[in-house]
Amino acid sequence: MNVKVSIVGAGMTGSTTAHWLAEREIADIVLVDVIEGMPQGKALDLLEAMPVIGKDVTITGSNDYAATAGSDIIILTAGLARKPGMSRDDLLAANAAIVRDATEKTMRLSPDAIYVVLTNPLDAMAYLTMRVSGLPPERVVGQAGILDSARMRAFVALELGVSVENVHCYVLGGHGDEMVPLTRFSNVAGIPLVDVMAPDRLAAIVERTRKGGGEIVSLLKTGSAYYAPAIAVTQMVDAILKDKHLIVDASAYLQGEYGLRDLFFGVPVQLGRKGVEKVIEYMLSEEERAAFKKSAQGVAENNLKLQL
Ligand code: APR
Repeated sequence: MNVKVSIVGAGMTGSTTAHWLAEREIADIVLVDVIEGMPQGKALDLLEAMPVIGKDVTITGSNDYAATAGSDIIILTAGLARKPGMSRDDLLAANAAIVRDATEKTMRLSPDAIYVVLTNPLDAMAYLTMRVSGLPPERVVGQAGILDSARMRAFVALELGVSVENVHCYVLGGHGDEMVPLTRFSNVAGIPLVDVMAPDRLAAIVERTRKGGGEIVSLLKTGSAYYAPAIAVTQMVDAILKDKHLIVDASAYLQGEYGLRDLFFGVPVQLGRKGVEKVIEYMLSEEERAAFKKSAQGVAENNLKLQL
């Protein structure tokens, strides 16, 4: 294949992303990790699965960044995952060092790549990637909104007993407990959620969505979610490589949109071959604006801690 996607961090999220991506047969895949033999072993195992599903994808694992040279997309998912009782922000210092190193090393080898960041705390890590790489804002995007929206969609579908395909939810803001599920815009087959659900049930779903990552961390005890984050990033990569102009919620660099500046924040973006083609702006109510502001404060505080 003529298209290459490199995944830095071959842990749970990285290797699951490789799995979903390989099934789509849209790019050759490189897995890189610091653990000796691990990315090689996972890549070989996945490669050996391809004949069964009839997909011609080259999957390589390495401990050397040289394998990533000439990538179209670099996915950053290296770093520590949460343990019970930890917030995403608790990971900041350790993961910043890892993301900085991975960005510097991959940039030199793939100067034309688009970066999709997953490492937490997500909005700060995407900001760090852009600043360290010196890339223009459209070439760096963070995965969070598709995941948070998918969690809310799953909870609504369960509650109402309808197909997940009929449920459309929009979760914006920073990827933390102050994220902003936009209930006014979320709907079931076009009918606003506020018209089909009792207020207390909707409030419970909003709360569960905000804490969705933590719910899984407390169940797993040894790590954080990976199936849903991995399929979310796969959808983003698919949209970029196919130049779909797909509008999804993602963390993008804001330059005045929503009254916010110089931070990565969850907003609807249009994704295509150039990366973030456009940030879409909703007309927010006073209440929604206040929730955005609160969430943005937390993100800005993390960015300051990066001391860039
Ligand atoms: N370079 C490459 N890989 C690294 C580096 C580094 N400098 N440092 C750590 N890693 C690797 C680890 O060896 C591990 O295999 O990153 C991988 C992380 O995998 P997991 O521990 O399984 O964590 P995962 O659940 O995949 O989450 C990774 O993504 O969603 C976020 O919050 C999550 O920040 C976390 C990250």
